Amino acid sequence: MAMTARYLVAGCGYVGVRLARGLLPRGPVVGLTRSEASAEQLDAQGIDAVVWDLDVAESALPRGFGTPSVVFYLVPPPATGVLDPRLKRFLALLPAPPARIVYVSTTGVYGNTGSVLIDETTPVNPSTDRARRRVDAETSLTQWCERQGVGWTIVRTPGIYGPGRLPIERLKRGEPMIRHAEAGYSSRIHVDDLVAALLLAGSAPRAVERIYNVSDGNPATMTEYFERVATLTGLPAPALVSRAEAEKAVSPGLWSYLTESRRIDSSRIRDELGFAPRFKDLRLGILSSLPAP
Ligand SMILES: NC(=O)c1ccc[n+]([C@@H]2O[C@H](COP(=O)([O-])OP(=O)(O)OC[C@H]3O[C@@H](n4cnc5c(N)ncnc54)[C@H](OP(=O)(O)O)[C@@H]3O)[C@@H](O)[C@H]2O)c1
Repeated sequence: MAMTARYLVAGCGYVGVRLARGLLPRGPVVGLTRSEASAEQLDAQGIDAVVWDLDVAESALPRGFGTPSVVFYLVPPPATGVLDPRLKRFLALLPAPPARIVYVSTTGVYGNTGSVLIDETTPVNPSTDRARRRVDAETSLTQWCERQGVGWTIVRTPGIYGPGRLPIERLKRGEPMIRHAEAGYSSRIHVDDLVAALLLAGSAPRAVERIYNVSDGNPATMTEYFERVATLTGLPAPALVSRAEAEKAVSPGLWSYLTESRRIDSSRIRDELGFAPRFKDLRLGILSSLPAP
């Protein structure tokens, strides 16, 4: 294994493995995962892997692990609380500060903003503990980077979809959706476009000390998204119900997303970094995510 990688992808899961593959032509890459099983999957794809469980206080990077130049951090915060101790542990145990860190955050930090178009100048206003943990992570990261002289970039992403990440099982289970008149806005990004945005964020000099929203540029409702997936997969369209009925019928996890409405403006990353999503059209993005017939 390359013990001094140019790039470290911390949290090398669904997005991270695609990012690691995109980085390979640029220099040695190491992916960090929590489990041996995920590390073996990375190895099988030609990506060197390190197992480091950030929930275990005494765990550490292997001896001799050199400091990478650029860190992409995609480990989610823990499932409870309002803080992100994982990120703090990661930063504290790095052998030396890297040149840059790109942090993958979520647009959930803006809270429930209704139909107003929100850009990066909109103040964070988390309304769930999940979003509070993200705000804690963003704050910890920027403060640490500023103390250490490390260049930081935060990329705030909405719902990520792609191969293996479509709501097929929910549609098969017949989970209803909120009827159009009551449904809030949500945004999406195809995983390949997110990876392209992260590659820009990790290399463009302009991206240092910047926050970027990323999205396909087409805010829609979750109801429209589910209906589109149903049409393109030949599954039955979801039944449309009132908000009150939906709360009783969908999983608590999905409901927590349905309670908020956000219309994301992602023009900054387009204007400053030249980001141009391939899958602006949700239909094409969904079709590209379906298994070959
Ligand atoms: N899915 C969405 O729609 C969405 C939207 C906005 C933001 N995000 C965020 O985007 C990021 C990437 O998402 P993803 O879908 O690629 O996530 P994912 O597939 O769940 O991958 C998460 C990665 O983090 C690692 N990890 C988890 N807990 C860890 C710990 N305690 N110590 C070390 N590593 C740990 C996992 O390792 P193991 O595989 O070994 O467990 C895995 O490599 C995440 O932060 C996610 O919350 C996602």
